[in-house]
This record gives sequence, structure tokens and C-alpha cells, in this order.
Amino acid sequence: MRPKIVAGNWKMNGSQAFVQDYFAGFKQSWNDKDLGKFTGLKVIIIPPAILIESSKRSTVNHGLQDYLEFAGQNVSSFTEGAFTGEVSAVMLKDFECSYSLVGHSERRALFGDDNQIINQKIKQLLDVGVRPILCVGETLEQREQGLAKETVQAQVEPVLSALSNEELKSLVLAYEPVWAIGTGKTATPDEAQEMHEFIREVVAKKSPSIAQQIVILYGGSVNAGNASSLFAKKDIDGALVGGASLKFDEFAEICELCGESDSK
Ligand code: PGA
Repeated sequence: MRPKIVAGNWKMNGSQAFVQDYFAGFKQSWNDKDLGKFTGLKVIIIPPAILIESSKRSTVNHGLQDYLEFAGQNVSSFTEGAFTGEVSAVMLKDFECSYSLVGHSERRALFGDDNQIINQKIKQLLDVGVRPILCVGETLEQREQGLAKETVQAQVEPVLSALSNEELKSLVLAYEPVWAIGTGKTATPDEAQEMHEFIREVVAKKSPSIAQQIVILYGGSVNAGNASSLFAKKDIDGALVGGASLKFDEFAEICELCGESDSK
């Protein structure tokens, strides 16, 4: 049985005041929905790096520390030193982040994260025991040209070939079609399922057993209205939520829908 994960990527949003309000509200929603009963569900919060510490503190103040995990949105491909503006894997570990996103489409499109840099970042994370959440997905143009699967395969395979099977067990995947991110357009559950199944087949070429265990999240305009039809699909193990994760009540609802969905 695979774990279920709902991860909230705040992107470059939030403030210290937002953090205080968010976790106070989230705690209330958590209690109302009794989310602690979903033992197979992991909830991951992904704030901007500068807000990780205050978010963790707020989590403790509200007694949620045993239920929430934290992740970085990005990590440096370098270890330490003269790399102004970067956050290292060691720093994420030091702040008790158990995961970090890698290769989010905004990083690929705006900050030049290519397969080589992504592999370096994954290596940095694995070296210190932080689990990478590798984001992959095609643009609208690639989908319209019938290149969606090829594109995703070309993003997944270089990572697979750089990892040992042992390392691969730490990887989480997130399929996020670029055209669905922040646009209000989601892939239909069938479109998403088809790609998730395909990604599992790509992983199976390296290890059939790991392909069955690896968690594959869907991301791209996930909200409380569309989440349950996505979670119902057999290869969709949870969600990477952007915009809707900024609303604590909606995020809690998505967590509930994931918790209630059938285990796979
Ligand atoms: P969105 O973002 O939910 O706002 O579309 C998802 C993501 O980029 O991870």
C-alpha cells in the first residue's frame, strides 16, 4: 500500500502575519475534520525558505507538530560557500525539512533548472537524507503536438539513470502539466491517470517493485472541487497544491478528501 501525500506549495507568498493566521485556522479545520485519524496520510507544508522557521514554531504552538512535515521549494545544486541567495540541502535538513521540491516547472522555465542541475540538486538532497519531490510535466504546446509522454519521459529518465535503486526509494514524483498550473484548468482525471500510469511504466523499466511503491502526486489547479475525482484514480497518490493551499480551510478539505480516498 502506498502512502498518500497532500503537499501545499505556497510559492512566493506569505508573511509572518500570514503564518500566524494560517496555522491558527488550519488547527481549527484540522480538529473539525479530525484529520489526525487518517494515519496513512502525510501532509506537507512548503513555505518560502524564510518562513519555514516561523511556520514550524506556529505548528508547535498549535499542537500540530506530529502531523505536519515541511519541505523546501527548491535547493541549491552546490554544497556550501560563496553562492549568494542559495539555500543548501544541509540547511533544509537543519530546519527539519524532510522533503524538497526539485524541478518545479517555474524553476525549469524561469531559473534554468535543466536535467543536469536537477540531478545535482537531487544528489545534494539524498546526501543529507532529505527526500526529493521531482516535478515533471509538459507544456500546452507539447501536449497539442502529441509530445506529452515523450516530454515527461525525457524529464524522468535522466533522474532514474542517475540513481541507485536504494536512492530511488526516497524519490517522490509529481506530475504537473504546465498548462494546468495556476490556470484553473486541471487535467481531467482520465488524462492525469493516463500519465501517472505511464510514469509508473517508465519507473518499472528500472525496477518493477519500486514502480509499484513510488508515490506519484498530481498537481495543477487542484482544489476542493476537483480533488476527489483525481484521488479516485488508481495511480494518483495525492496532490501537490499551489493556490488552494494558501486557504487553510480549502487545504484542510483537500487533505480530508485524500484521507478518505481508497488506498492503493
Ligand atoms: P496550482 O499550483 O495549484 O496553483 O496550479 C500547483 C503547483 O505549481 O505546484
